[in-house]
This record gives sequence, structure tokens and C-alpha cells, in this order.
Amino acid sequence: MKWLLVAVLTAFTISSAVTQSHILVGSPVNSLCADLIHPAGYSCTEHTIQTKDGYILALQRVASPAQNLTLQYGPPVLLQHGLFMAGDVWFLDSPKESLGFILADHGFDVWVGNVRGTRYSYGHVTFSETDKEFWDWSWQDLAMYDLAEMVQYMYSLANSKIFLVGHSQGTIMSFAALTQPRVAEMVEAAALLCPISYLDHVTAPLVERMVFMHLDQMVVALGLHQINFRSETLVKLVDSLCEGHMDCTDFLSSITGKNCCFNDSRIEYYLDYEPHPSSVKNLRHLFQMIRKGSFAQYDYGFLKNILTYGTSKPPEFKLSLIPASLPMWMGYGGSDLLADVKDVERTLAELPSRPELLYLENYGHIDFVLSTSAKEDVYKHMIQFFRARKKSSSW
Ligand SMILES: *[C@@H]1O[C@H](CO)[C@@H](O)[C@H](O)[C@H]1NC(C)=O
Ligand SMILES: *[C@@H]1O[C@H](CO)[C@@H](O)[C@H](O)[C@H]1NC(C)=O
Repeated sequence: MKWLLVAVLTAFTISSAVTQSHILVGSPVNSLCADLIHPAGYSCTEHTIQTKDGYILALQRVASPAQNLTLQYGPPVLLQHGLFMAGDVWFLDSPKESLGFILADHGFDVWVGNVRGTRYSYGHVTFSETDKEFWDWSWQDLAMYDLAEMVQYMYSLANSKIFLVGHSQGTIMSFAALTQPRVAEMVEAAALLCPISYLDHVTAPLVERMVFMHLDQMVVALGLHQINFRSETLVKLVDSLCEGHMDCTDFLSSITGKNCCFNDSRIEYYLDYEPHPSSVKNLRHLFQMIRKGSFAQYDYGFLKNILTYGTSKPPEFKLSLIPASLPMWMGYGGSDLLADVKDVERTLAELPSRPELLYLENYGHIDFVLSTSAKEDVYKHMIQFFRARKKSSSW
């Protein structure tokens, strides 16, 4: 099974590397359309974009079977997934439960983002995934290159401003990107699930333990540049963290907090898709946020900071730069141990705008994407928020 994955990834990386055109002809080997969206009867097209730093990303455009694609598209909306996930996460439950399908059913022109390093967006014009340079990025690059490029691509194609939906790391990326006027001016409104800009109140026991034990430095010492939970090294490392030290029987809860509403009997199936890989540098950047309580660029240490940024400390992302005129909506949960309520409150205090808020006491970090009742609990409200922004149009 493992050799197959490697073969597939290698094949895709090579095919990406030799095709430098903006849009690849044919479809990538890992196709989200083919995996989850066509089988549900929805129309789906694969798009390929290239970031300014050379990564090849897949975007999918999804429409409900009820929609006639030759007719006018509804408002474009981009779905930006979180850490160790990819665009598949918006389509893992049934069409009646999953946000991607639900938005398409409501007539939205749904676009699905997949950041660099995920199995759907695996490729770079020069580097392959075995090169350490391929993994030399953190969430600030996902914001400044990947998200900025996706938004630009959709904006040009749709010729209108877009709606942005982010979950978890997708919200970190959104906040960082929206501090840039060139990105903010292409966004009509943003809906953020488990919004994160500060992380110093994280109380997830396993995450705290990993930070305390400097897991990020351990993996660097092992010579790893990629975090891939399907690799033997990582599986062993996590096992050793759990053994004797703490109870990891409920592994997911120990990372994300208790999730009230997702269907446990589907875990095996979810694991066919998640987790996706990310970079060690990204994990280090996230751990820096937890340790320092800052929302800033990657900290290289005194000397390299001066060389890279011209300052001894990495520059901060200032939430105050996000235009007050940009409407925002946020959904957050009382059981979420990653997007902690205290950190969310600090984010709110620093934003110039007053976002609309949906607080769900019993919701954990994963519930916002996989709860079987999220349609009623969450998505319905998000769609109302979007509709209110577009009430003047015929849609
Ligand atoms: C879609 O709409 C076009 C133009 O109105 C029409 O010619 C075509 O037959 C429609 N296709 C379907 C599948 O309904
Ligand atoms: C949970 O998932 C299983 C397998 O997909 C399904 O048979 C069952 O009906 C689901 N239960 C609920 C409450 O949605």
C-alpha cells in the first residue's frame, strides 16, 4: 500500500514539474473530483494554479446536480481547510451534511482550496517532495502565496469579489492574508470556523505535551522536514509520547478537545483521507505561536531575523490592518481546545470590525467540519450571513 502511495506521489510530482503552464492538461493523479465529488453526483472540474514560489496547487470547482453549468454561476466561495487536512474534509459526510455540497445546493459557485504538501496539491516546478527545500514553508507562505493565488485566480475568473470560508489553520491563513490590502480588496466577506490568530491558551493535553517536549525540535533532530502521520517514524514518536505519559485512547480529543457531534463509526473512513502531510517548519511556527502568544512571521532567531526581516524580532501580523468594512462571521465552540475562547476574544478585541458570532458551547474543533448536525447548528447561519451580503442581486 505504501509503495503505491509513493509511486503515485512521485508520478504526480514529476508530471507537475515538467508542466510549467498555468493550467495543467489532464487531471492530477490524486483527484478530489474523482474521489468524492463525482461519486456523489455533483459536477466538478479540476483547476491547477502555480504559486509565485513555484508550488502547483489543485483547486476544484463544484456545482450541484440541480445546477445547469451553462447558466450563470452563483456567488463564488472558496473553502480553505485546516492543518493536516485538505479540501476533501468539506465533502466527507453525506451531501446533506457536508458544507461543500450544501453550499453548492444553495447555488454557490464552490471552489475548494488545497495547500502545498497535501496529497491533492503535490508538486513544485523544481523541487520534489524528497527535497528539503520542498518543505521549507510555514503558514505565512500558505497565506501569502497559496491563499493569495487562489483568491486571485477565482477573482479573475469570476470577475467579482469572492466569499472566503476558513477552518482552523485556514483562518490563520485568512487573517494573515486579509491584512494585505491586495487580497482584502478581492474578498466580499469571510466566514471563519474555529478562528485562530493567537494560540497561547491552547489546552489540548497532547498538544501541550508536544510543545513541552519540543517535539518540533525532535523531528528536526531526526532529519525530517515533512510531518506525515502515515510514516513509521511519526507513528512511533506519537506512540512513545502516549505510552505511560498520558491517556491517548481518545487520541483526537487529546488534540482537539471533545467533539460532541461527529459520527465515531465513520472514523475508519475519515482516516482514508485525513491526515494529510504538512511541513516541520509549519509545526515549529505554530509552536512558536503557542509559546510566545504572538501572531507574527516565522522566528528564525536573532541573526537570521535581521538578515530576513531587517529586525531582530519577526514582524507581527496586525489584525488592525484588516479593513473594518470587510464583513466577517465566526463560529467557535466551548469545547474547542485549539481555538480557545480566550484567544478568540483577543482576536475580536484587535479586529477593527465587529464580526457576527455564533458560539456553540458543546462544539469541539472537528465538529465545525464533521458534525452530523452542523448544517442546522452552523452552516445555516453562515449561509444567511452570505445571503445578507448579496441581497441586492437577483441570486
Ligand atoms: C442548460 O442550459 C442551456 C441553455 O439554456 C440548454 O441549452 C441546455 O440544454 C441545458 N442543459 C441541461 C442539462 O439542462
Ligand atoms: C453514522 O455513520 C454510519 C456509517 O456511515 C451510518 O450508518 C449511521 O447512520 C450514522 N449515524 C448517524 C447518527 O448519523
